[in-house]
Amino acid sequence: MAGGRSYGNPRFRSPILITLLFISSLLIFIFFSPSSPPKLTSNHSHIPMLNPTVDYSFLTSLQKFLNSPGKSHQSREDSVTNTVTEADVEKLDDLIWKREAERLYEDSYYPAFSVVRVYVYEMPDRFTYDMLKLFWNTYKETVNLTSNGSPVHRLIQQHSIDYWLWADLIAPESQRLLKNVVRVYRQEDADLFYIPFFTTISYFLLEKHQCKSLYREALKWVTDQPAWNRSGGRDHILPVHHPWSFKSVRKYMKNAIWLLPDMDSTGNWYKPGQVSLEKDLILPYVANLDLCDAKCLAESESKRKTLLFFRGRLKRNAGGKIRAKLVTELNRAEDVVIEEGTAGEVGKAAAQHGMRTSVFCLCPAGDTPSSARLFDAIVSGCIPVIVSDELELPFEGILHYSKIAVFVSSNDAVQPGWLLTYLKRFGVAQLKEMQMNLAKYSRHFLYSHPAQPLGPEDLAWRMLSGKLVNIKLHTRRSQRVVEESRSLCFCDCKPANFTSSRPLS
Ligand SMILES: *[C@@H]1O[C@H](CO)[C@@H](O)[C@H](O)[C@H]1NC(C)=O
Ligand SMILES: *[C@@H]1O[C@H](CO)[C@@H](O)[C@H](O)[C@H]1NC(C)=O
Ligand SMILES: *[C@@H]1O[C@H](CO)[C@@H](O)[C@H](O)[C@H]1NC(C)=O
Ligand SMILES: *[C@@H]1O[C@H](CO)[C@@H](O)[C@H](O)[C@H]1NC(C)=O
Repeated sequence: MAGGRSYGNPRFRSPILITLLFISSLLIFIFFSPSSPPKLTSNHSHIPMLNPTVDYSFLTSLQKFLNSPGKSHQSREDSVTNTVTEADVEKLDDLIWKREAERLYEDSYYPAFSVVRVYVYEMPDRFTYDMLKLFWNTYKETVNLTSNGSPVHRLIQQHSIDYWLWADLIAPESQRLLKNVVRVYRQEDADLFYIPFFTTISYFLLEKHQCKSLYREALKWVTDQPAWNRSGGRDHILPVHHPWSFKSVRKYMKNAIWLLPDMDSTGNWYKPGQVSLEKDLILPYVANLDLCDAKCLAESESKRKTLLFFRGRLKRNAGGKIRAKLVTELNRAEDVVIEEGTAGEVGKAAAQHGMRTSVFCLCPAGDTPSSARLFDAIVSGCIPVIVSDELELPFEGILHYSKIAVFVSSNDAVQPGWLLTYLKRFGVAQLKEMQMNLAKYSRHFLYSHPAQPLGPEDLAWRMLSGKLVNIKLHTRRSQRVVEESRSLCFCDCKPANFTSSRPLS
């Protein structure tokens, strides 16, 4: 091993080891000595309080954003449309190779390795600002009707990850707090390319034919870029957080990194081969409820009298059919509160109250395996009971969900009496520990502007950083594999065959 120092000299190692052992046993003794039993009262001092200078609300943040779009934004129309040429692609590829070679042989390369460099496409306004303005204007028209905008606007907010990520990326560097992602202005400096097209807003707020034609235009705009052509889109980030968004054309962009709410390997929403955990990124929904911060958690500690709470629509399609069965099973039980939900401010207040006064919150599948309710439960300090057999979760390479949530199979959950017996078996200490972990985790699910370290935007880039080497591998490989090659390389999320003899390593 080059440059290795000799740590291994046994003459020096043993006294150090003995000292270490002594100190650790002393520590263990102090922590577990009978006179000081392990503390069970929650200490919430590690939970960040909401920072008053930070916007956590989509509406507040969007309003500021649209009123001061920043000096950098000039209204952007289509430039002359020119289709990509092979020469452009070769030129870019050559520049990228030179930049990567420079970095590879620079000494500073390793420390900088986990920093993701992102080129943000400057797309014409009709894909970007116009969509946000459309949301803002129509939201105001409906705000008096339902007191919280129409359900469509609420849905858009739940899926507004495209706004939060983009707003952070294009903010002036001096105002940005995330250090693990930098915006670069030359394509050859980029690891990844961000496509700032608001696919969800277009889906919900444009006429059907208008939407489809805008989708086709966006597809053409992006796929005409030399960088797209070079990698086949593998290093391009495509926000499609609502499962219906971009549906008519996204199959042409299946190599790109899709930002998704879940994966639905059953094929109801995504076709096999379009999505995979290796390629794509699961991002949390934007929570509907306010964070129950340290003070709120401390106050709610004695108020959590309900064992299990659920509020929402009781009839859903697909995997959501489980909801009706669960309701039948749980409806008459003591300690359980099940309410048919309504949208709007009244619904929000009721859900917030219910989640802050319950120990467990039921999170069954919706029309898709995931639902925003999971994230509402997390920010409310209510332990999620997840009944959704096909669920994929955000940032699972970083977070350990079994420490904050309970996972139950649909089969078990609908057995008479099973679920409540199971939940009642959790001891006080175990519940306290899960609640403390939950409180610690809540910050990972709060989108904000400016984006905060350890917030969902930050974790998104950490996850993407972990994918980079593989993305580059597949890009390079695709450039050199000859047409006759039969060594096709798939990375689909295929249904696992659990009976196969070799366990997954
Ligand atoms: C909570 O923990 C912090 C350090 O994490 C400590 O400074 C504080 O005194 C603790 N508070 C209580 C009430 O135990
Ligand atoms: C909504 O209601 C508020 C107060 O009730 C009023 O000032 C405002 O003009 C109304 N907006 C619309 C679009 O009707
Ligand atoms: C790249 O551009 C060429 C035309 O120059 C086209 O034939 C090819 O399909 C494009 N490849 C991709 C992945 O877009
Ligand atoms: C699963 O694997 C086993 C053993 O390798 C095989 O016999 C079986 O046919 C496989 N099932 C499916 C559905 O592929």
